[in-house]
Amino acid sequence: MRVLGLISGTSVDGIDAALVELSGQGYGVTITLIDGLTWPYPAELQRQILALCAGEAISLEALATLDDQVALAFAAAAQALIAQAGPADRIASHGQTVFHRPVGRPALPGRGTLRLGYSLQLGRGAVIAQQVGCPTVSDFRRADIEAGGEGAPLVPIVDLCLLSHPQQRRCVQNLGGIGNVAYLPAWDRQPDQPPPKVLGWDTGPGNSLMDIAMHTLSEGTLTYDRDGAWAAQGTPCQSLVEEWLQHPYFLQPPPKSTGRELFGWDFFTQCHRATTARGLGPMDIMATLTEFTAASVAHAYQTFLPALPELVLVCGGGSHNPVLMARLQAHLPEIPVQPTDTVGLSASYKEAIAFAVLGYWHHQRFPGNLPSVTGARGPVVLGYVNEPWPVL
Ligand SMILES: Nc1ncnc2c1ncn2[C@@H]1O[C@H](COP(=O)(O)OP(=O)(O)O)[C@@H](O)[C@H]1O
Ligand SMILES: [Mg+2]
Repeated sequence: MRVLGLISGTSVDGIDAALVELSGQGYGVTITLIDGLTWPYPAELQRQILALCAGEAISLEALATLDDQVALAFAAAAQALIAQAGPADRIASHGQTVFHRPVGRPALPGRGTLRLGYSLQLGRGAVIAQQVGCPTVSDFRRADIEAGGEGAPLVPIVDLCLLSHPQQRRCVQNLGGIGNVAYLPAWDRQPDQPPPKVLGWDTGPGNSLMDIAMHTLSEGTLTYDRDGAWAAQGTPCQSLVEEWLQHPYFLQPPPKSTGRELFGWDFFTQCHRATTARGLGPMDIMATLTEFTAASVAHAYQTFLPALPELVLVCGGGSHNPVLMARLQAHLPEIPVQPTDTVGLSASYKEAIAFAVLGYWHHQRFPGNLPSVTGARGPVVLGYVNEPWPVL
């Protein structure tokens, strides 16, 4: 089956699309990446999404319009990839997260804690199915959340199937807007053996703070620190990194998930105030935020993993930042840190590939969530399918 996976993460940089050929049942899935592309958001649409993520008030009518504009952008990404690489049997679309409330965060002020998370992705599947004329699975987080889970991260089980090793413990570290880890014990895939216990959670910031800092420090002219060019010229302030690592999120044991609500504009504003008070220049600020991001990942491994991994495989846009990669390697000196490409899986498209796998499992009615990772009460089939209406 050919499944076209679509995702735009918390960086809101563009839509990653991957056309994948899949076969096998459940955890026995095997994949071949046929082709992938990144479809940049139109600038005005990106601005509106980022404003919404930052908490800007918006009317319900404007929200509905934005939802459908995002869906049309996702459909355009799918159509471009289909034109380039051939048809898909179905689309699996994560959509664009604009709001995520983890389990346990007080939902109803003064009325105790509602033990259900909330996660909102724009880009409804019905529009994509209609526009592309292809069955579309979407809303992957909902069933897990309704089963009491975080609805995130969903990718670790796919990482186990695609990146685990028979003798080696591995971590797969995604560095998108937010950082997340999958801890994969060695797995020799005997058919009669259940899979090992995978751990996974959001480690904290990925590129989000660095991207916001670049936007601010460049007065809106740059969206990210390309190849770590600014960070490379600065010196990190270690005492600030130590201070920021005291944030309660880093001490909270997994399962846990987070988003731009925590590591977004407000967090950056506090960081910026502290760096200004110490007289740090723009390059030093970038070096300090890059160091903080790398340190938060290593700190998470050292605090919460049963054993350190023997190999760290990095994916997401952060894997293209040599300064971030070098700092992560420096914090984990005994362990090779390298992009997933080195073991044959595209670091740029891995998340889109993962949602193609989850869409394939939806078709097989195979549960795609891991209760040990999300905290859900049990395994559930993820996603809801929209068929295109027949043309009249
Ligand atoms: N060459 C590069 N140098 C530094 N950072 C990069 C580079 N390429 C991508 N990035 C970072 O990766 C981010 C996008 O990562 P991505 O995995 O798409 O995140 P998300 O899943 O949140 O969309 C960009 O916003 C940028 O910060
Ligand atoms: Mg992206």
